[in-house]
Amino acid sequence: MSEETQGHTVASTCAEVFEMVTQGDLNIYGTMFGGKLLSMIDKCAGLSAFRHAGAGVVTVAIDRVEFHRPIRQGAIVTVRSCVNRSFNSSMEVGAVVTMENPWESVLTPVKVCKAYLTFVALDPSGKKLTLPPILPETEEEKRRFAQAEIRRAHRIALSAELSAEEAKKGA
Ligand SMILES: CC(C)(COP(=O)(O)OP(=O)(O)OC[C@H]1O[C@@H](n2cnc3c(N)ncnc32)[C@H](O)[C@@H]1OP(=O)(O)O)[C@@H](O)C(=O)NCCC(=O)NCCS
Repeated sequence: MSEETQGHTVASTCAEVFEMVTQGDLNIYGTMFGGKLLSMIDKCAGLSAFRHAGAGVVTVAIDRVEFHRPIRQGAIVTVRSCVNRSFNSSMEVGAVVTMENPWESVLTPVKVCKAYLTFVALDPSGKKLTLPPILPETEEEKRRFAQAEIRRAHRIALSAELSAEEAKKGA
């Protein structure tokens, strides 16, 4: 078996991006735009997916994202992501966002939100690629690996239910 088909550890897929929140990132309430944070999450998670696929990837789905506290100017926002599990052509990436803000005396990182994203690996012509497996090592990675399968089943069931509902309306 080649090194590629043997798979990758979760650790080898982990990525991190961080940015300071500046005026252009703010909405009229003076807090960070949700879309700006989503863009950071998508970029970081995409880097994890690319590291695992060793090929181009596209975002297929971002699960429900909740923003638990406002992020203000001057905050340092950090996104950390890793691939939880790969299936056939798709993989689930988990991302966690934290912020620190010395101007508000938030000196230790506070969790702001988490998200699960699904990416599909494509070759340069847009054909789906088969992914190598993810090899979880720690207990936490094994737990996320198992839960990724459950979340995938829910996503597939929800998509099927919504498609059937749309088809019924169209009929
Ligand atoms: C990604 C894409 C090529 C898949 O095309 P497709 O052939 O219709 O997809 P399939 O139905 O065969 O699904 C491919 C994989 O994605 C998964 N998938 C599809 N829809 C999904 C969803 N809503 N949520 C989670 N996974 C999904 C499937 O389960 C499948 O996984 P597997 O190969 O690991 O079993 C196509 O949907 C696409 O080009 N989407 C746009 C991507 C894009 O532009 N992203 C940026 C958005 S701005």
